[in-house]
Amino acid sequence: MQGRLALITGATSGIGEATALRLAEEGCDLVLTGRRSGRLSALKARLDAMFAGKVGVDALAFDVADRAAVGAALERLGPRAERIDILVNNAGLALGTEVAQSGDPEDWDRVIDTNVKGLMYVTRALLPAMIRRNRGDIINLGSVAGRWSYRGGAVYCASKAAVRAITEGLRLDLVGTPLRVTNIAPGMVETEFSDVRYRGDAQKAKDVYAGMTPLSARDIADTIAWCLSRPPHVNVQELIVFPTDQPAVGHVHRRS
Ligand SMILES: NC(=O)c1ccc[n+]([C@@H]2O[C@H](COP(=O)([O-])OP(=O)(O)OC[C@H]3O[C@@H](n4cnc5c(N)ncnc54)[C@H](OP(=O)(O)O)[C@@H]3O)[C@@H](O)[C@H]2O)c1
Repeated sequence: MQGRLALITGATSGIGEATALRLAEEGCDLVLTGRRSGRLSALKARLDAMFAGKVGVDALAFDVADRAAVGAALERLGPRAERIDILVNNAGLALGTEVAQSGDPEDWDRVIDTNVKGLMYVTRALLPAMIRRNRGDIINLGSVAGRWSYRGGAVYCASKAAVRAITEGLRLDLVGTPLRVTNIAPGMVETEFSDVRYRGDAQKAKDVYAGMTPLSARDIADTIAWCLSRPPHVNVQELIVFPTDQPAVGHVHRRS
């Protein structure tokens, strides 16, 4: 992966941040993105210090759900945008666990706009150059929720089912090119995901992982790096990764 240029959406925390570190270890240059510019600068400074002279890091703050902002951000990158040959579509969120009959349509809009439309805006912006250069990998962060729905998660689950469908659709759209597309579908990963879902209620977020061992962001970053490091004729199209303590969606083994 030495010398490849990876753009990671949602690199300000969790799986995106861990993937940035993992791909830097592999020698990839990076474009870090997310909305929180302070965190992006801090991560860029950290990676610059850790991989001085070995890896180039750019940071671009934008909201993936804002189509104009996506275009403007990539324009700011200039000719470097043409060199991006790994796209990790990771930015995403769930909001609340209300059942549909009491859910907030504003939350649904944000989840669909980010997880589905945002993923496609960034993909659409980068694909033509990848096709022109005849190289590229797209890693989409789906979820086990995209395969098995759970109560109170209808719209989030739908958004991740869409990520799976988009992955399959892209594979067909790109047939005959060497581009690869992968859907990574994790179970429970301890990140800021639950803090966001429970709107900053730290106790509720912590309780999600009580008494069990969740996946770490690094586990998923390792999985992404493994998929990317397969030989060119191998496209890992979908990979489901559960914690051992989570045998199925909605089932968790807790020790206390
Ligand atoms: N944690 C889990 O259990 C789990 C399981 C399966 C799948 N996933 C998926 O994995 C992905 C990463 O989640 P995570 O667990 O690492 O959660 P996280 O720690 O909350 O990270 C989410 C990232 O997405 C970014 N983001 C959210 N909305 C955005 C927007 N509109 N524009 C740009 N960036 C945005 C956030 O950055 P800013 O706030 O700075 O914009 C943040 O960097 C998500 O797609 C999630 O659905 C997570």
